[in-house]
Amino acid sequence: MYSNLSGAILPFRAMDVLERALEHDRCGRAIAHLEVGEPDFDVPDCVRSAMEQALRDGGTHYTHSLGELELREEIASYYSMVRGCEVSPSQIVVTAGTSGGLLLLMRLLLDPGDEVLLPDPGYACYPNFVVSSAGAVRRFPVREAAGWKIHPSEAVDRITPRTRAVLLNSPSNPTGASQSVSCVDSFLDAAVPVISDEIYQGLEYGADRAPTLAGLAGAEAPVFVLDGCSKRWAMTGIRVGWLVAPRSAMRRLQSLQQNLFICASSVAQAGALAALRFGACDAERMRLEYARRRDLLVDGLRRLGFSVPHAPDGAYYILAGAHHLDGNSLRLAFRILDEAAVGVGPGIDFGPGGEGYLRFSYAASVETLELGLARLQAWLERR
Ligand SMILES: Cc1ncc(COP(=O)(O)O)c(C=O)c1O
Repeated sequence: MYSNLSGAILPFRAMDVLERALEHDRCGRAIAHLEVGEPDFDVPDCVRSAMEQALRDGGTHYTHSLGELELREEIASYYSMVRGCEVSPSQIVVTAGTSGGLLLLMRLLLDPGDEVLLPDPGYACYPNFVVSSAGAVRRFPVREAAGWKIHPSEAVDRITPRTRAVLLNSPSNPTGASQSVSCVDSFLDAAVPVISDEIYQGLEYGADRAPTLAGLAGAEAPVFVLDGCSKRWAMTGIRVGWLVAPRSAMRRLQSLQQNLFICASSVAQAGALAALRFGACDAERMRLEYARRRDLLVDGLRRLGFSVPHAPDGAYYILAGAHHLDGNSLRLAFRILDEAAVGVGPGIDFGPGGEGYLRFSYAASVETLELGLARLQAWLERR
């Protein structure tokens, strides 16, 4: 009765861990949740007020399928003023989170059997976006020894006549590594379109920002940029993001958006406009706090014997080596949950290259991180 495609979608195992963790919570055994990338901050006040105002003013109807023009102009001005690159509002689609944009791109680029190159380890949902659009996944390794940076030739070597896109994510979930723009040229030289998922940009902790590829899309290169409000403004549940694309793709993207989504939520768009216009200080306040948490968690995990050779450049995750405890990360994550009352993400969620690692999220509060580390220490001592 059900399609083969839906049967091929893998569960997101960090969510399986979370769901079991929530059962523990319900039974009164409060878990230290470090398994999901859910900021513990509330949305900025400017976002809340703008959304309340939109509701009061009747801003609850369908909008232009590409998104309110005012918002698209604000996004274009963000690229121009903050990121130093030019993008026209007519090259922007406002989407239901980055996830909505990913779906549009898969439908834009793939015919059945076409391939997408994905980093391994990489965000757990990427392969499922590809597979649900009847595409095929080809993974290229990113290696811990190289600081989880992409070695372009390892990806280029995997290009086939069916390759329709490569997906880059900088800073990355789950590794936190930022990538340099130089790897992009190798893909463009090989005529492979680049999808750049920039949802964690703005959450960098070193001297440099991860570079945006929006200017390339703005200049009509075969580059597609995904970004949104979920991460740096803690707006995960509000579901608003955007996609920047070359003009040649816009009519098709618009038809896809009109049919699959009609438009992004009108109230969420009001929130996104406020975040971009007034939310820079809020984003910076959260970034500084994540930087503090990153240092605390990196030190704590190293102290406990987890392998973290490189502190992450950005996002809010640490992919820590746990091979010495158990080579099977799913089994280990459930043991740590059941025996230590700490939720962690199994590295295998992120591809075969993540096996033997655990992903720790520092989107959680300092108190939760400290509690998690103390419980892990006690558990390790008991073993
Ligand atoms: C790398 C990456 N891309 C996209 C998403 C989805 O983000 P959104 O909430 O904008 O749909 C996530 C969420 O965790 C992510 O980690």
